[in-house]
Amino acid sequence: MKGIKIIKKDANKLRTKLIKEKQLCTEYKVHSDEEFVYMPLIEDYDKKYMETLLNEFNVNIEDYTFTPAQYRPTNFLDFLDDKISKKDMEEIRKSFDVIGDIVILEIPPELESKKKIIGEAALKFTKRRSVYYKKSKIQGVTRTRKLEFLAGVDDLETIHKEFGIRFKLNPSTVYFSPRLATERSRIVDEVKEDEVIIDFFAGIGSFPISIAHVKKAKIYGVDINPEAIKYMYENIKLNKLVGEVTPLEGDINNIIDDLPLADRIIMNLPGTAKDFLEVAVNHLKSGGVLNYYEFSSDYKNVIERVKKIANPRKTEVLDIRKVKSQSPGVWHFGLSIKIE
Ligand SMILES: C[S@@+](CC[C@H](N)C(=O)[O-])C[C@H]1O[C@@H](n2cnc3c(N)ncnc32)[C@H](O)[C@@H]1O
Repeated sequence: MKGIKIIKKDANKLRTKLIKEKQLCTEYKVHSDEEFVYMPLIEDYDKKYMETLLNEFNVNIEDYTFTPAQYRPTNFLDFLDDKISKKDMEEIRKSFDVIGDIVILEIPPELESKKKIIGEAALKFTKRRSVYYKKSKIQGVTRTRKLEFLAGVDDLETIHKEFGIRFKLNPSTVYFSPRLATERSRIVDEVKEDEVIIDFFAGIGSFPISIAHVKKAKIYGVDINPEAIKYMYENIKLNKLVGEVTPLEGDINNIIDDLPLADRIIMNLPGTAKDFLEVAVNHLKSGGVLNYYEFSSDYKNVIERVKKIANPRKTEVLDIRKVKSQSPGVWHFGLSIKIE
């Protein structure tokens, strides 16, 4: 096939131009020897453009043998060809969550009959171990969902890596969202050395362990789900921590009186955290910070609710942000607020 042989020192410059003008054939490999680099051209290369390029670099187009490049689909759609409409696939792709070596996706009811094809495609595309789909919404006090096996190995326990931390979990028995990684790192940045922190709804310890990984803080991680507490213990062992995490199983309402007043309270239970606000405010030291989360369409409502409960204590909003989208028009808001 047609290609260009060019002396090594000029190769990069030529390659950049060929790519920019879409003249380099990416289905074949660029190869080189001691002195030269050989670049494959697309079949219907632009003769006029190539003429100027050949003059500029003082090279010729000749016949060479090139090795085919390994085809690596970069897009989930490539695996499904015409089996599912592009629009449907885009929807499924957006719902992808990868937790450790498990892929979890959403399949709309009208595509139920094609779920196995979709599962196999997701397995190939992601090269992970197992694929499941969401069989229910997140529900109940433990905030978990039913998952149905689609492809790969049917094993729901996995280790998820995030910023050098390892979280072991089973996504059908405990809550965990990889989409909160940025939020976790934001809270880690807020924490000062030697803080006493209570995470009211700690799950497998994702916030406490992220903090204790880098900050010398004392963190109590409370959760009502025994499975979450089991994993929190395991995750403490799995990671090297500079801070101290104490898992506590039970309803925060029954545990709070046994805990010291806190410099910071984390409340990531966005649907119902508001019911625990009074308990939290009463347990916060003067000048302590509340990391409060709520589903809302308007950030002002979130701030007002906390201010109202904290009244007459003075408050200072340190930050309010959209953590993620919950449903059309509704956001998972994160509020960091200091309470005197
Ligand atoms: C949305 S999850 C958040 C878990 C964790 N903070 C995270 O972000 O990964 C909420 C957690 O609160 C726990 N929970 C719900 N009600 C509780 C209560 N009254 N006391 C303690 N934990 C509770 C659930 O079991 C669940 O693990």
